Amino acid sequence: MTYLETTAKFYAEAAATPQVGLCCISTPPMQYPDLKIPEIIYQMNYGCGTTIHPTELTGLPTVLYIGVGGGLEALQFAYFCRRPAAVIAVDPVREMREAATRNLQLAAQQNPWFETSFVKILEGDAFNLPVPDASVDVVAQNCLFNIFEPADLQKALKEVYRVLKPKGRLIMSDPIATREIPAHLQADERLRAMCISGAITYSDYTQHLVDAGFGQVEIRDRRPYRLLDTYSFNLDHPLLLESLDSVSFKVPIPSDGACIFTGKTAIYQGREESLDDHAGHVLLRGNPIAVCDKTATKLGSQFPQEVIITDSTWHYNGGGCC
Ligand SMILES: C[S@@+](CC[C@H](N)C(=O)[O-])C[C@H]1O[C@@H](n2cnc3c(N)ncnc32)[C@H](O)[C@@H]1O
Repeated sequence: MTYLETTAKFYAEAAATPQVGLCCISTPPMQYPDLKIPEIIYQMNYGCGTTIHPTELTGLPTVLYIGVGGGLEALQFAYFCRRPAAVIAVDPVREMREAATRNLQLAAQQNPWFETSFVKILEGDAFNLPVPDASVDVVAQNCLFNIFEPADLQKALKEVYRVLKPKGRLIMSDPIATREIPAHLQADERLRAMCISGAITYSDYTQHLVDAGFGQVEIRDRRPYRLLDTYSFNLDHPLLLESLDSVSFKVPIPSDGACIFTGKTAIYQGREESLDDHAGHVLLRGNPIAVCDKTATKLGSQFPQEVIITDSTWHYNGGGCC
């Protein structure tokens, strides 16, 4: 059996017997006015952070959701994109598709604004998405891609890139590892399926996104997620996993490299009213401007006395330099 088959089997069981916290230490779901989340959907919250960023959901986009789980985020996306087939949810596991269908029927009974037709659930997997090239505005996945081995992760990201319209967004939430996870844990297929041992480091994760062609990546949240302790995981030192929420844009990669926004700002503190770096950035004295990490490094080394670069907040929400 391959690790992908083990994963599918694991989620078939998770669909048949919902268990709180079975996979991922879930965050309490985002609440919105007039959104009622059925109890069973709470129990089947198998994600970590969130992929729901309302600022990305103006203009009633079409959302392709990969790995439907109990249907929590499909329901939340439908809240913002209220029309038939606004959300296309894909999952290879029949039991999970059936559970999500039942759960969304319950949601329709509890939410007058929601119709089950808003979410179209399709058989398919992350490597063969059942939609044409450049056909969706948003792709989202929560706590699935971290399970994939690196070559499969790259394949899945390229497949996402294929189906996104130009300027479309990939919204993800995944565990990442603060150092490389030892081989004995990576090879444990069940731990991998549980989103515990497939996580890669922050720099590998962002590099995979850039390698797949995404020219801009925005980090929306990064926080402690779970500690792999020495006793349960046969480790010399504890290993902290973090959860990372990001939005990546299908825009060309600039010739000097992709823009990755982590919440850094540049602040001019010189004698003049402003500073022009003649590369598209004008800094007014005393006013922080959001910059991507690449621009932060350039400005910091070009103007070491005049420009202060603030630390990453890991919470960037648009309005930046590039
Ligand atoms: C960790 S759960 C996450 C569920 C959901 N995103 C959530 O936040 O609750 C992973 C989901 O991905 C599905 N899945 C497993 N292998 C997959 C694949 N190769 N392609 C797409 N989905 C897959 C599972 O059936 C399950 O629904």
